[in-house]
Amino acid sequence: MKKKLRSHDWFGRKDKDGIIYRSWMKNQGMPTDMFDGRPVIGICNTFSELTPCNAHFRDHAEAVKKGVLEAGGFPVEFPVMSLGETLLKPTAMLFRNLASMDAEESIRGNPIDGVVLLTGCDKTTPSTVMGAASVGLPTIVVPGGPMLNGRYKGQTIGSGTHVWKFDEDMKTGKMTQEDCEYAESCMSRSIGHCMTMGTASTMAVMVEALGLTLSGAAAIPAADSRKKIMAQLSGRRIVEMVRDDLTIDKILTREAFENAIKVNAAVGGSSNFLIHLVAIAGRIGVPLNLDDFDTLGSKIPLLLNLMPSGTYLMEDFYYAGGLPVILNELRDLLHQNVVTVTGKNHHENIRGATENYNTNVIASYGQPLIHEAGCVIVKGNLAENGAVIKPSAATPALMQHTGRAVVFESIEDYHARIDDPDLDIDETCVMVLKYVGPVGYPGMPEVGNMALPKKILQKGVRDMIRISDGRMSGTAYGTAVLHVSPESAIGGTLALVQDGDQIELNVAERKLHLHVSDDELAKRKEAWIKPVPAADRGYVSLYVNHVMGADKGADLDFLLGSSGSAVTRDSH
Ligand code: FES
Ligand code: MG
Repeated sequence: MKKKLRSHDWFGRKDKDGIIYRSWMKNQGMPTDMFDGRPVIGICNTFSELTPCNAHFRDHAEAVKKGVLEAGGFPVEFPVMSLGETLLKPTAMLFRNLASMDAEESIRGNPIDGVVLLTGCDKTTPSTVMGAASVGLPTIVVPGGPMLNGRYKGQTIGSGTHVWKFDEDMKTGKMTQEDCEYAESCMSRSIGHCMTMGTASTMAVMVEALGLTLSGAAAIPAADSRKKIMAQLSGRRIVEMVRDDLTIDKILTREAFENAIKVNAAVGGSSNFLIHLVAIAGRIGVPLNLDDFDTLGSKIPLLLNLMPSGTYLMEDFYYAGGLPVILNELRDLLHQNVVTVTGKNHHENIRGATENYNTNVIASYGQPLIHEAGCVIVKGNLAENGAVIKPSAATPALMQHTGRAVVFESIEDYHARIDDPDLDIDETCVMVLKYVGPVGYPGMPEVGNMALPKKILQKGVRDMIRISDGRMSGTAYGTAVLHVSPESAIGGTLALVQDGDQIELNVAERKLHLHVSDDELAKRKEAWIKPVPAADRGYVSLYVNHVMGADKGADLDFLLGSSGSAVTRDSH
């Protein structure tokens, strides 16, 4: 006898409500036997033409549906808020938590027994995983896949990473506007998300490392037919997961999070990984703090030679063997007492798929590209709750440096003065940007790798220490101290920094210190004027009143945890 599923409370009813629940679905041409108690699989689609990285997801949804039907399930596709990194102002990050609420309530309120998350562009992965984690059904992720390698005038170019380079080349006169427009088409020449190890690729690797995807899913390019096969197989698998009651909480254990931290370090993943992983852990109830990333990840070697830290792109990663090769290299460091969506651990999943076809792209654990690559957490009076730095994207010589602060009071102040020839700045200075944290901007945008002053770029200098409470695009590089917490808008010490102060960064000692006495800081705090909140109505007002610090994943405080999947009342 078939187990009674959650969807039975809708479709299995023999009363008036049962008529309502089934009849309207039948207007889509669904035969009566679809409602016979088979697993109903929600396909959570973040398709949008305003999220170009996810604009091919109709095809993926169709492939998932095929798989669900083949396995005897009943597929139902539904949309959730799609967050596109490139267009959405003031930053997609402002809406990650809103999209997570959309995903959560859409899953819980509907007759769904298991859910497939179609994710691609940066925020579409954490938002839907956070939402799904707060419900707790069997869940599988189908990452949308990276774009094919960019090629411009014989050179390989990477999404995002080359935007910063082109911008610098425009400023120094190496590129014209015409060159730039041509390069744009060369960079984004196929469907898919950024093909550097930016945040989207980082998130795809994260979900595979957490065990939420079929093995090898992360690296397959969007344009490769094998991506659709992966989607179809995921459709088949989610039906079995429902039958096995393999719920997301059984996969997202503390061990799974620890594995994801180590893998992220080995692939040179984005600093955004920290915020999103902490937020997901908060939903599933697994304790995870910033120090865990340093303790578990900072000593892990860099094995993947992808931009922005290295040379290659996701397409090359796929041809070299993809994430299974990295999981195999790290096998002695990873917990194997975990279960993934397959019902097996990583070790069992990757059996027979561990050959490295290109050692220039994937290095071995014994001969890594960098010996200690994971993100580092620095603390001090300037960041009592911590700040993040990604050494693999930074300049080694700046890892221990004390310099004079050049302070920008807002992003507008930065834009107005950065290229002013009279700005009192040289390459030994420390650039400080305030009010770009979760509350301050609002939404914590990716402005932390603020471009250097033109006059310094013209000297050939390409990096300086930059400190802010904002984030940095995962596709970017530079010695950026990010996510300073507590943020300036709520009165963190960052708000009190003044031009001319000395700031010390010492990565080896995990130290970020403002050389200003406590007395002087207390005086400055007294005179500090709290900025006016960004909005007094709508979602933004809810956000600024409830968002937690970057160190807590920047989730809304009332979204922590899960409400389960039960809904006891009917709609009629
Ligand atoms: Fe969508 Fe980079 S802009 S993944
Ligand atoms: Mg990004």
